[in-house]
Amino acid sequence: MCGIIGVVGSNDTLGTLLQGLARLEYRGYDSAGIALVRPGQTWRARCASGTESVAALRVECEDAPTGFRSGIGHTRWATHGAPEAQNAHPHLDCSGAIAIIHNGIIENHTELRGQLEAKGHIFSSVTDSEVLAHLVEESRAAGLDLMEAVRASLLVVRGAFALAVMDANEADVIVAARRISPLVVGTAPGVTYIASDVPAILDRASAFYAVDDDEVVRLAPEGFRVIDLEGVPVRLHQLTIDWNLETAEKGGYDDFMTKEINEQPDALRATLLDRRRRDGTITFDEMRISDDELRDVKRVVLVAAGTSHHAALVAKYALERWARIGVDVDIASEYRYRDPIVEIGTLVIGVSQSGETIDTIQAMREAKRRGARVIAISNIVDSSLAREADAVIYTRAGLEVSVASTKAFVAQVAALELLALRLAQLRATLPPDDIDALFLGLKAVGAQVKTTLERRSAVAQVAAELIGARDFFFIGRHVGYPTALEGALKLKELSYLHAEGYPAGELKHGPLALIEPGVVVVAVVTDRAMREKILSNLAEVKARGATVVVVATDDDEAIGAVADYVLRVPATEPMFSPMVDIVPLQIFAYSMARGLGRNVDRPRNLAKTVTVE
Ligand code: F6R
Repeated sequence: MCGIIGVVGSNDTLGTLLQGLARLEYRGYDSAGIALVRPGQTWRARCASGTESVAALRVECEDAPTGFRSGIGHTRWATHGAPEAQNAHPHLDCSGAIAIIHNGIIENHTELRGQLEAKGHIFSSVTDSEVLAHLVEESRAAGLDLMEAVRASLLVVRGAFALAVMDANEADVIVAARRISPLVVGTAPGVTYIASDVPAILDRASAFYAVDDDEVVRLAPEGFRVIDLEGVPVRLHQLTIDWNLETAEKGGYDDFMTKEINEQPDALRATLLDRRRRDGTITFDEMRISDDELRDVKRVVLVAAGTSHHAALVAKYALERWARIGVDVDIASEYRYRDPIVEIGTLVIGVSQSGETIDTIQAMREAKRRGARVIAISNIVDSSLAREADAVIYTRAGLEVSVASTKAFVAQVAALELLALRLAQLRATLPPDDIDALFLGLKAVGAQVKTTLERRSAVAQVAAELIGARDFFFIGRHVGYPTALEGALKLKELSYLHAEGYPAGELKHGPLALIEPGVVVVAVVTDRAMREKILSNLAEVKARGATVVVVATDDDEAIGAVADYVLRVPATEPMFSPMVDIVPLQIFAYSMARGLGRNVDRPRNLAKTVTVE
């Protein structure tokens, strides 16, 4: 999941590349590099300085020669080869004229490298990507132009790629191609761009197009043309971009994470907007599956990764309770490889903030191949997931930049619960009045989240008092369980502390052995029906010396007797509680991470969009 940017025909090539790379850092930031290309000359700079790579590259480029109208840039998240300068992109061929950048994994790179070395090619990195530079070099030596050379090279490559290639012997041309890893083309008068994500070129290009799998694009200053791997011309799909650069800025906050946590009421409002007609019918604009088909759904399978998986787990409770449909929730990376059963009437729902997570896309493709109807829950309009699904429900949370997902989670839960209500409507499993009341309850969640956000400093105070703790267990029951999983994920990814989420009733089946003085147990105790059971579980951990933090509702006065610290939230319908209860846990994780001096927007080893398996 590296970031890619390229430009041809620009008067500000270096500025475009460096600005684009800064916006792409959330995709990976082990190293960064650029290549500037003009007739007869390829100039390259690369830096491997972790989260400071783009800043270091900027300094390195102060000595760059001027007058280049075209170039490519890359920010890397290491897969093959350590995060060192020699493995940073762009990679060059033996002559030094051809430069390539690549996102993805070339699965047969060892075999290809062996063949190329046998022909005399000298490799200077240990990456899988470098084989592409030498493959193109071979085809160029055979007399092919750059576009044909890239196409010929890709015929022997297995795996995933979004790549861009330049050659000083055919300057002012970039050839780009995609299989699985995302790629977009941007155009402006006299300048053409390529990027892995729209934000990289958002304020430079005026029109945007999605490259699809196995398509090869030739970009020149005057425009672009596209062929498939057979050489047949194809047209690109123009993208609708419904956000601007301002929405991608920090909006006056210290970091994107704070901004995005605070945007959660807006995200909820936007997700629910215009989704209920006057007559009470719940509607989705891009629901391209008929009511009859939805009514006849026999089983739902939700596939997702990470935080999106936790939102999917919440949806299981709502779909089963309200729509009376059996639901399985699968980790996307597991679904595809376990020979899943897809019977007639199976509806598969892929949940993904980015809509580009390769595990989720592949799981959806597998489900489709086996005959399932598929719905995408995506935050990004026209994402790969959205385009490939039979129907889409957009979460409309706005661009999420911080690597740790926050507002996308609450928006996903809202969208999925809305879908559960629609299915209940179609299947008549709930009385219309109950559906109306639940819809109104869902609309009120934004205000409860807002109230919870106002208590930020009380949560930060608890985090400050627990700053020395190293082990955390997050527990909950019913929908409090996925909330606990999400709270633990936030804490571990942001603060690098050990944190595990558990169903509260499961502690006594093993993990209780780990409880001792110094361990912190964070319990979600907002569901009255589950309260007594969780209190018993808390008694078990307290007896073994754990420090207890609870998330509890304002009206639960007695909870103070069992907890060392209480994080208060307004009471809500239990099925909606994850959207409210997660807020203090997000703030808790954020405050711990800040207290420990971590980079909250860019935690180590992670990337925002995971486009490798
Ligand atoms: C955690 C986080 C990740 C993502 C996961 C899926 O804070 O952000 O766990 O949730 O990588 O990403 P999407 O939703 O884009 O498919």
